[in-house]
Amino acid sequence: PNVRAMDIKDHIRHVPDFPKPGILFYDISTLLAHAGAWRETVRQLADTIAPTHPDILVGIESRGFLVAAPLALALGCGFVMVRKHGKLPGPTVPYTYDLEYGSDTIEIQTDAIRPGQRVVVLDDLLATGGTLNAAIDLCRKVGGEVVAAACIIELNFLGGRQRIDVPVHSIVSYDE
Ligand code: PRP
Ligand code: MG
Repeated sequence: PNVRAMDIKDHIRHVPDFPKPGILFYDISTLLAHAGAWRETVRQLADTIAPTHPDILVGIESRGFLVAAPLALALGCGFVMVRKHGKLPGPTVPYTYDLEYGSDTIEIQTDAIRPGQRVVVLDDLLATGGTLNAAIDLCRKVGGEVVAAACIIELNFLGGRQRIDVPVHSIVSYDE
């Protein structure tokens, strides 16, 4: 890892046994709370995503919103929400999937993306890849061309990347 990546890791808090025993939670609260580290995180993501020339950045509720919204402003893209079930006024398209812990349904509004718009999907963390895979599918269902996906944190040992059929970018990764 380069020096910048190590600096960002220093601001991610590790919380054992949250939200369940045996789960090590990677907490970005401490990263968000540090202005310089957060600015550097957004800058690195912007540099990574800019060459894909997106029209729309999609953020996945909730923590994906924190990533996608500042990036959309920085890159001059529209920002679209993929939300948990029942939060968006219709018509919407749903997708139900398994999580690292539990299961969930997410939705997108059918008119959120115009046909052929170039889309990059953002989240804070890639674990099993179920959430990101679902969001990519939703973007396609409403006509988007998904050109990439990106996250701050990737958990390599869960192999989530293997479930994603577009280029995936992460800023920091963990092997255990
Ligand atoms: C977490 C995380 C990712 C997802 C990753 O979200 O923010 O969205 O899980 O897991 P996966 O790769 O195994 O699908 P969570 O559902 O806990 O909700 P939150 O973002 O609202 O906190
Ligand atoms: Mg999430």
